[in-house]
Amino acid sequence: MGVFLKPDTSVKLGRLELKNPVMTASGTFGYALEFEPYMDVERLGAVVLKGLSLKPRDGNPPPRSCETPCGMLNSIGLQNVGVEAFIKEKLPRLKRLKTRVVANIFGETIIEYAEVARRLDSADGVDAVEVNISCPNVKKGGLSFGSDPSGAAKVVTAVRKATKLHVMTKLSPNVTDIRVMVRAVEDAGTDSISLINTIPGMAIDVERRRAVLSTVTGGLSGPAIRPIAVRMVWEAAKAATVPIVGIGGIVNARDALEFIMAGATAVEIGTANFLDPASAIAVVHGIEEYMRKNGVRTIKEITGAVN
Ligand SMILES: Cc1cc2nc3c(=O)[nH]c(=O)nc-3n(C[C@H](O)[C@H](O)[C@H](O)COP(=O)(O)O)c2cc1C
Repeated sequence: MGVFLKPDTSVKLGRLELKNPVMTASGTFGYALEFEPYMDVERLGAVVLKGLSLKPRDGNPPPRSCETPCGMLNSIGLQNVGVEAFIKEKLPRLKRLKTRVVANIFGETIIEYAEVARRLDSADGVDAVEVNISCPNVKKGGLSFGSDPSGAAKVVTAVRKATKLHVMTKLSPNVTDIRVMVRAVEDAGTDSISLINTIPGMAIDVERRRAVLSTVTGGLSGPAIRPIAVRMVWEAAKAATVPIVGIGGIVNARDALEFIMAGATAVEIGTANFLDPASAIAVVHGIEEYMRKNGVRTIKEITGAVN
């Protein structure tokens, strides 16, 4: 019998080490604490929290989500408690978790993005900020920065100046050439890049002859978007010098491995959490099992296997 070696699942996003490449995606895992009764959150490589803005936000009126073939549409509109309430009420408990904590941030202006990052920088317990310049469900901020390379660069430059934390920039699929966006945010000093955010979509209730969502359009997520996301991660990874984090329709370990083989160093799991809150943990186990079965000792051996 051969010597049994536990595969090494750890990965590095720049200087930020994760025990495994599996993270939750923003907006689908609350502030992580809500999930503690149901699962061992500390098994995850990192938790990415609901988007935070400077002031609390109510989000958009209902209906703001609906099921679609192999996915869902949402137009939550970044409802959140605001960065101050987060620091006071959530962070003290999050700090004790033995996993990485990534705060997703959002602003209506560049100054607001930088201010949220600055406040998190001085609060103990956050390991990284994920800069959301890709939300399709808000009128100001979000995609208005994320669909334009110079706007994206300005936001990242301001956030970079405001914090010493790891800066991860979250890109939108709603652009002509993702490589242009990759270069823009890299030049502005991002430490890593995550993609994709949701794809703008729309559903119509033909009985009522009205759009299903109150905002008419929303963001499409779930397995329906996975092949688009894998292709964009593959393109981004070839153009980037910083690590890439793959997002979009991951439900199981095989899906996560697709992103890793396309060049992602880590992955985030979103919509799948609504079907089974423990799906991210199952992905961690599934990756370990794949590595054992295939004699893969480190994640690096398979990262970017498909060139
Ligand atoms: C209900 C919902 C809320 C979301 N809220 C945020 C958010 O606050 N910030 C953000 O950057 N992305 C947000 N997203 C986008 C996800 O983090 C992720 O990028 C997207 O859903 C694609 O991944 P998935 O197919 O695994 O869900 C949200 C997605 C959903 C479905």
